[in-house]
Amino acid sequence: MVKAVVLGAAGGIGQPLSLLLKCNPLVNELGLYDIVNTPGVAADLSHIATPAKVEGFLPPDNGLAKALRGADIVIIPAGVPRKPGMTRDDLFNINAGIVRDLATGIATTAPKAYVLVVSNPVNSTVPIVVEVFKKHGVFDPKRIFGVTTLDVVRASTFVSEILGDLLLASSISVPVIGGHSGVTIVPLFSQSSHPLPSDFAKADLETLTKRVQFGGDEVVKAKDGAGSATLSMAYAGAEFASKVLKALKGEAGIVAPSFVHLSSDAAGGEAIRKEIGTDLDYFSVLVELGTGGVTKLRPIGKVTEYERSLIDAALPDLATNIDKGVAFIQSPK
Ligand code: NAI
Repeated sequence: MVKAVVLGAAGGIGQPLSLLLKCNPLVNELGLYDIVNTPGVAADLSHIATPAKVEGFLPPDNGLAKALRGADIVIIPAGVPRKPGMTRDDLFNINAGIVRDLATGIATTAPKAYVLVVSNPVNSTVPIVVEVFKKHGVFDPKRIFGVTTLDVVRASTFVSEILGDLLLASSISVPVIGGHSGVTIVPLFSQSSHPLPSDFAKADLETLTKRVQFGGDEVVKAKDGAGSATLSMAYAGAEFASKVLKALKGEAGIVAPSFVHLSSDAAGGEAIRKEIGTDLDYFSVLVELGTGGVTKLRPIGKVTEYERSLIDAALPDLATNIDKGVAFIQSPK
């Protein structure tokens, strides 16, 4: 029996994500928590003819703890989205506190659950969850994930457009490493399962790279003040959750990208630090998943000179973002 919980379930991402989880045959129970509207969302979803039992919770009467009780996987899309002109980092002041409080609830009620962090800025909110878990003595680097899947989904879609075959999109895989904000997003097109055309110009590669790094801005601009990516993010979040659930159920060979802690005991973390030439504690890499979470962090492997320059450009911002998240818990102002 698997219980999935969505925190922020009534939001733009939360609702379609909850719908996709309700349709996932690996989910038996679905707990929906938000500060508003979850009874309605839960009632609506509960009429769908799939096995998962759905229940909605609000803050009164210990709603968060009730939602989290017995959770195997918790996905957090709670918080505010970006408006035009805002970077993901601008969200920090509001979302950091929300994520801290929700992480405290998970650490005390469902410390063994897999935690999938969607709330931005992911480069900072993942360190916040980790620091909260450390404070409660329940940190396990194998179970806390920053959801960067949307960057990979975008990269795959854009490559399929360039190759002129949208049917390929879901089978194309482009590793995207680094972080999940602007220049910290580093797509490795040289490692794409479906290579770009051999005559693809350097200038076009730079444009494509920027489109992945700032793809979220296209959506923020088009929504014109009504929020950021929700539907594509729900798809990406459900894809990632589905991989975690399949691995949990014992399926072998599951690999997914994620922004994770490079703890020395999480297999391969130290080797990745050496490859990048950094002492950062977090990086987005391809992660091999097993029944207990992360089994191996895949080495980055061979990159082009251009990709190396992107990694170098990502490191300072990434360090700042990570430090901000850690400091928010370790030395709150
Ligand atoms: P939204 O505003 O539509 O929904 C957020 C939901 O969180 C609302 O229903 C709100 O009531 C709820 N919420 C606020 N405080 C809460 C609390 N203390 N406890 C529980 N729920 C709470 O926003 P949207 O568009 O769904 O985005 C959510 C987050 O996801 C944002 O931080 C956004 O930046 C992030 N995001 C992440 C992406 C990624 O690739 N990781 C992509 C797109 C967005």
